[in-house]
Amino acid sequence: ADPDPLQDFCVADLKAPVSVNGFPCKPEAEVTSDDFFFDGLSKEGNTTNIFGWSVTAANVLAFPGLNSLGISMNRVDFTAGGLNPPHSHPRATETGVVIEGKLLVGFVTTSNVFHSKVLTAGQMFVVPRGLVHFQLNVGEGKALLFTAFNSHLPGSAVLPTTLFASSPSIPDDVLTKAFRVGKDVIDNIKSKFSS
Ligand code: GLV
Ligand code: MN
Repeated sequence: ADPDPLQDFCVADLKAPVSVNGFPCKPEAEVTSDDFFFDGLSKEGNTTNIFGWSVTAANVLAFPGLNSLGISMNRVDFTAGGLNPPHSHPRATETGVVIEGKLLVGFVTTSNVFHSKVLTAGQMFVVPRGLVHFQLNVGEGKALLFTAFNSHLPGSAVLPTTLFASSPSIPDDVLTKAFRVGKDVIDNIKSKFSS
């Protein structure tokens, strides 16, 4: 979904003093082979959290060599029962391949149709750009997933935290009306995310 590059590469200068729609390129004379390799996805992430999952991002912020190339990846680790909670990527379609374990993968279209399937090692899925999706580990042990995006910075709006843990928080009046429940229910959900 990102624009086409105008040159072979544009290794991001993440510390540039100017702000543009993307990142400026570091001078070509300073580019080395290391700029085009990244080992940040080689290690299991820390899944000790409320959802039992971990997303390790290889986007332009972590891997500046991706800048302007319209591509990036994530590594997603799951404990048994772990959930990558419902979220959407405003700037990218996502595809993924299960490496280990058994995941229920699903997304909902803008016509409100739910598509889902249980996938095991080697099996793939695609989530069209912007649609809300999740993965739930339904296997006995851990699970491992690699995902890829057609953006160097797909962005992620995670529904539970977007709605119930923003700062400042969304007024209860908005959430009680949206979910047709009392303030007690909204406050209870909000309390699960306050640390
Ligand atoms: C999975 O949904 C991911 O965003 O990596
Ligand atoms: Mn995703």
